[in-house]
Amino acid sequence: MPRSDEYIVRTKDLSKHYQMGDETVEALKGVTVDIFRGEYISIMGPSGSGKSTLFNMVGGLDKPTHGTVFIDEVDMAQLDAYELAWLRCRKIGYIFQTFNLIPVMTALENITLPMVFAGMAYDDMMKRGRELLDTVGLGHRLHNKPGELSGGQQQRVAIARALANSPSIILADEPTGNLDLKTGKEIIDLLRRLNQENGVTVISATHDLKMVDVSDRIFWIRDGLVDRVQTRSEMEQEVMTEH
Ligand SMILES: Nc1ncnc2c1ncn2[C@@H]1O[C@H](COP(=O)(O)OP(=O)(O)OP(=O)(O)O)[C@@H](O)[C@H]1O
Ligand SMILES: [Mg+2]
Repeated sequence: MPRSDEYIVRTKDLSKHYQMGDETVEALKGVTVDIFRGEYISIMGPSGSGKSTLFNMVGGLDKPTHGTVFIDEVDMAQLDAYELAWLRCRKIGYIFQTFNLIPVMTALENITLPMVFAGMAYDDMMKRGRELLDTVGLGHRLHNKPGELSGGQQQRVAIARALANSPSIILADEPTGNLDLKTGKEIIDLLRRLNQENGVTVISATHDLKMVDVSDRIFWIRDGLVDRVQTRSEMEQEVMTEH
């Protein structure tokens, strides 16, 4: 699905300070980025540069110290608790490095849980849960608990869960961080396929250079600031002139 000209996420002069005793950590120092609906964005940068902090602000999981996050042109700070919960449940799917599945629930139960919160009818929920597990290649693992699945399979369940309520944005924080090279590549290919086929916007913090190949743009973060923004064709050109 081609990228649209509408913005789905915008941040304006976003900063986040953490108070640690006497010390203030400036995790973000004024980040302004625009993301188009349907884009695949990778956020790259050294450890401690502010990637997860940016992820948490865009996902409405934490509040910025200054600045604004707009989702679909709505200022998140203007939402009340109910509206924010609605947005997090319906518009955004979250994927984490450590999968964060519920250990006592089966794959299917993990996936349908966000649908319970969204108030979906039982039969619709079961049907959609099965379809989603098929989409991520785990149609044969419906009733297994996370402990009975490999890391890559658990991350597939987490991706299916992120898709439960048909979000327009998937936020992934180091989704391949705990996976071996081959499994990591499969997860990246799956995210890219979902991005291309469903038009879901993917925003992923990552150290994984394999992610560069599938990204439309890369935001390089250093010390709480966006150092540069590169499109894939700029990256490819750079590689060609280097060789
Ligand atoms: N809750 C917190 N309290 C205090 N400081 C924090 C908190 N969360 C993050 N920080 C600090 O903010 C800075 C940015 O952290 P962040 O987790 O965003 O980095 P990151 O780019 O995601 O790193 P990594 O690649 O290691 O995941 C770091 O200096 C970190 O120590
Ligand atoms: Mg991080």
